[in-house]
Amino acid sequence: MNDLAHRETSGRDALEDILKQSFMRGQWQNEAARASGAAGVEEVEKGVFGPKPGGAAWLWPWTMVRGLLDRSIEAVPQSYTSRRSLLFNNPGLPKGTTTSINMGIQLIRAGELAWAHRHSISALRFVISGNSALYTVVNGQKCPMADYDLILTPAWSWHDHHNEAAKNAIWLDVLDGPTVNALNQVFFENFGPEQQPLGNAAGETLALLQPPGNVLSARAPDRQMCFPWRDVEPKLLAAAKGPGSPFDGATLEYVDPATGASVLPALSCWAQLLRPGEATKSHRHTSSAVYFVVRGQGQTIVDGKALDWRPNDCFAVPNWSWHEHRNLSNTMDAVLFSVNDIPLIRFLGLYREEPEISLSPIPADSDGHFLRAP
Ligand SMILES: [Fe+2]
Ligand SMILES: [Fe+2]
Repeated sequence: MNDLAHRETSGRDALEDILKQSFMRGQWQNEAARASGAAGVEEVEKGVFGPKPGGAAWLWPWTMVRGLLDRSIEAVPQSYTSRRSLLFNNPGLPKGTTTSINMGIQLIRAGELAWAHRHSISALRFVISGNSALYTVVNGQKCPMADYDLILTPAWSWHDHHNEAAKNAIWLDVLDGPTVNALNQVFFENFGPEQQPLGNAAGETLALLQPPGNVLSARAPDRQMCFPWRDVEPKLLAAAKGPGSPFDGATLEYVDPATGASVLPALSCWAQLLRPGEATKSHRHTSSAVYFVVRGQGQTIVDGKALDWRPNDCFAVPNWSWHEHRNLSNTMDAVLFSVNDIPLIRFLGLYREEPEISLSPIPADSDGHFLRAP
C-alpha cells in the first residue's frame, strides 16, 4: 500500500487536520519535515543527522558600506535613540548576521552625542575611525575610542557615545540580539538626561541601584570595559612568533582580567593574525562568527565559497560550515577582529568542532586530540 493510500485508510490525514485545529501536532510530522528539509531523507533514514549551516557565508565590502553610511547621514539626521547605524542582515536568515549575532556599523557625526540608555541586549564596539575626542561612557566609566579599541556595553549598563571632534567617527557594533530576542527578553530604558554623570561613584550608583525585584544586573562598575588596541597589538605580534592555531593562525581571545571569562556572557572577541602567505586548515564548529578586517588582504573560504576581503570589510561565517583563512600577501600580515558565540554554545553543552579530514588526516593511532567532546 502506498503512503497516500495508507494515509487515507488509517485516517492519518483526518487526524492531522484535527490536531492542527486543536493547536497540536504529531511528532511524526516533525520527522517528515526534517526529512524534507534541513536534514534530508537519507540522513533521517540512517538515524544520524545534524544541522545545516545557519545562514549564508556573506561579505559586506567596505566600499559599499562606506557609501551607504555617508547616505545615512543625510537620510537619518537623528534616529529615535539618536543612533545612526546600519545592520548586516544575513541573506540566509530572516534576521541577524548569524543565528545568534548581530553586527552593524555606526556613524556619529562631529559634535554629536548619542543619548544614554541601557538594554538587556549586550553589545560591544570596535572602533574603525576614532579620534582623541571620541568616547563612550559605560556606567560612569569614560572609555576613549581610538582606532581598533574595543569597548564593552554589557547587558543593562548605561551607555552614551560622544564625538567632540571636528570629524565624523565610525565603529563596529556587535550584539547578542538574536539570542535575547529569541528568548523574548528584550528590555530597554532611556536614562532620562541625554548623558550620565562621569566617574566611578556615579557608575557605582548607576550600576547598583535597581528597581526592587529587578534581576537584570549590570556588571561591577570597576570591571574593565575598554581594551585599547595599543595593548592588544604587541601581544598579537608576540603570539605570531609562536606556532598559532592550524585553523586560525595566531589568535588571542579577549577576556575579563578579573575572572578570566569571555568579555560578554554570550559573545567572545578574538584578535587574529595571519602571517604572510599563511593558509589555515579547514574546520567547522557549532559556533558562528562575524569578522572585521583590520588590515591585510585575504580570503576566507566557506563551504567552497570564497569571501575575498580587504581592510574594513565585514563578513559572516555561519555555524557548522567548513571554513579556512588565507593571507594572500607574501609580505604583509593580515589582522582580523572577530566575535563568536562560543561562550553561549559551550554553556549549553553544544560546542562541537571537527577538522576537515581530507586536509588534516587523523592518524589511526590518534590520541583523539582533534576529537573534542561536544
Ligand atoms: Fe545601546
Ligand atoms: Fe573557525
